[in-house]
Amino acid sequence: MKMKLKDYNLLLLIILIFSFMGCSEREKPSNTIISSPSKNILVEFQLKQDGTPCYMVKHEGKIVIDTSSMGFEFQKQTALIKGFNVIGNDMKSHNETWEMPWGEQRKVFNCYNELIVNLREIETPNRMLNIYFRAYDDGMAFRYEFLKQEGLDEVIITDENTQFNLTGDHTCWWIPGDWDLYEHLYNTTKFTGIDAISKRNHPNLNATYIPENAVNTPVTMKTDEGLYLSFHEAGLIDYSGMTLKVDKDKLLMQSELVGSDITGYKVKRTLPFKTPWRTIQIVNKTGDLIESNLIVNLNEPNKIGNVSWFTPMKYMGIWWEMHLGISTWDIGATQDMTTFIKKKSSSSKHGATTENAKKYIDFASKNNIKGLLVEGWNTGWEHWIGFEDREGVFDFITPYPDYDLKEVVRYGREKGVEIIMHHETSSAPRTYEAQMDTAYSLMNSLGIRSVKSGYVGKIIPKGEYHHGQWMVNHYNNAVIKAAFYQVAVNAHEPIKATGLRRTYPNMISREGLRGQEFNAWATDGGNPPEHLSIVAFTRMLAGPVDFTPGVFNIKLSPYKKNNQINTTLAHQLALYVVIYSPIQMACDLVENYINQPSFQFIRDVGVDWEQTKVINGEIGDFVTIARQERETGNWFVGSITDEEQRSVTIDFRFLEDNKKYKGIIYKDGQDAHWNDNPTSIDIKETIIDNTIIKTFVLAPGGGLAISLKLKN
Ligand code: NOJ
Ligand code: CA
Repeated sequence: MKMKLKDYNLLLLIILIFSFMGCSEREKPSNTIISSPSKNILVEFQLKQDGTPCYMVKHEGKIVIDTSSMGFEFQKQTALIKGFNVIGNDMKSHNETWEMPWGEQRKVFNCYNELIVNLREIETPNRMLNIYFRAYDDGMAFRYEFLKQEGLDEVIITDENTQFNLTGDHTCWWIPGDWDLYEHLYNTTKFTGIDAISKRNHPNLNATYIPENAVNTPVTMKTDEGLYLSFHEAGLIDYSGMTLKVDKDKLLMQSELVGSDITGYKVKRTLPFKTPWRTIQIVNKTGDLIESNLIVNLNEPNKIGNVSWFTPMKYMGIWWEMHLGISTWDIGATQDMTTFIKKKSSSSKHGATTENAKKYIDFASKNNIKGLLVEGWNTGWEHWIGFEDREGVFDFITPYPDYDLKEVVRYGREKGVEIIMHHETSSAPRTYEAQMDTAYSLMNSLGIRSVKSGYVGKIIPKGEYHHGQWMVNHYNNAVIKAAFYQVAVNAHEPIKATGLRRTYPNMISREGLRGQEFNAWATDGGNPPEHLSIVAFTRMLAGPVDFTPGVFNIKLSPYKKNNQINTTLAHQLALYVVIYSPIQMACDLVENYINQPSFQFIRDVGVDWEQTKVINGEIGDFVTIARQERETGNWFVGSITDEEQRSVTIDFRFLEDNKKYKGIIYKDGQDAHWNDNPTSIDIKETIIDNTIIKTFVLAPGGGLAISLKLKN
């Protein structure tokens, strides 16, 4: 074959490139490898020929994340993407056991091998970057470190280009990479089927911004070989939240940080600093995703000391009645919970009155429920008509005239029920920041130990997003300030949980998902029966979830003709065990709990756990979890299914040897069905020990809840 002129030019070019490369300091690509303690996971760092940093991950000898590059783009500086040399590296092993002050378990094992790679640009300005890799038996993580270095005091990051190169078109459970909200329903598609853009402008979401075909984390996947992967981040501090941009052709995800229209960049930091960890859980069994402690382990130990002033608890609320439209947050107006539009009305009924609060306290106190959330107690709601003018509107100190805050707190204390404060910031963080000290110190003076904060609507100033660096700092600083006043925070419309509860254990719970409230007013039919069997393997991997279970009046009648809960009653009970939070709401109205035999489960169920075992589960189909209560040693089991009827087998071998337990089993009645007969339930008592294996039938949209009290 003859060579054409074009081919000679190409040859010349190739020779030129090679001779140019020969001039550089680097002779050959450099590799560095670590494996996890039991060697099932292997992480390999390498530099490409052009000095691009890359990593690759193997699980049981098979590549699960193929060569993926890493780097940054900046304002005012050239990108840090290639042209690196490895100038050193270090390896460490770590093996510790630490205790959670409250949690899904008491003892946490933190065991990993770490590799630190020191990189320096070959060319001037010879910038340096360290990358930390950790290999655990249930996953891996890495983070970047910008060292203190001459001539570089600050970086303004416009893009972080961390890649996750998948090895197949995995099945994915995902929500869109929304910069404002995590309250989307989960989608189940192949990776190549991800279409986040079509989720824009959802009618029930008042603030969304989905600029790219990207997903939010945790995003969980299953490979064709049956391996489970979940991608997230840990230790999100002074940085912006990471979404993952989807490249369907290359089966590749790339970090897309949440930005700001005001500053035009993603992150601004003074050197030195470390980025959050980029995490991948890699396990053979679904249960290992939930039992994994990778995310909390990657965070720093407790920085605020003893938090025994906060006690995990069940709580009720002057809350559901507002979502059902029975009462209102403010005085003299009604609010349409679908459009959120308010109208002045003389027939409106204010929910947060002293009298109403006492009614809830009386019921809670008799039923082993230790907290009462009161929303709409403070002035400001009357101005919160539209979503535009919210700056300076809410007052976090002044109660409405029909609510005697001090008297309610006093009455609660007398009855053994503590009040949970509510701060709806309406996403005007500057208004909130200006009042934080006074508001938390008021709480402290009254002995109120926890606050539910809320961030409904678009952030003010316009152009900042909920998950950008500015708001990440706001949410984290609120928690740090709250700790100073011995206040624990349950944030709604929060930034994602990234395990910071280890460092700041007053960060107790958060929403950050499509919660129960949607069932009261969503126009799309509410949360489907499969919702929580996906949430358990996605959102819940990030940390505690304030889902607010416990609706007994499943059809919401007579209040909401077009809405209902799409589960059975037994499914609602099971959620107290399946969905973890140190504060668990019994969200329904008092009248719906009175004389209900099923309510005994809510009375009994624990909220603080010695240990947790996932018995079985498949993402989006079903999940069964057993948790042992601290102090009493009693066990509670919860199992939920999606719209399919299912037989679930429970092997009780997790119970202690030679011990008998009094079991109360709450299971779907034979004719139960999430839509046709949701409240049909069978309650039976029996004796259970660890030799028993039992199969239960869960109805479509159904569930199973079991309490197991140790017999003396
Ligand atoms: C949204 C929260 O998720 C909900 O629980 C609360 O009642 C409203 N905001 C009002 O703050
Ligand atoms: Ca399913």
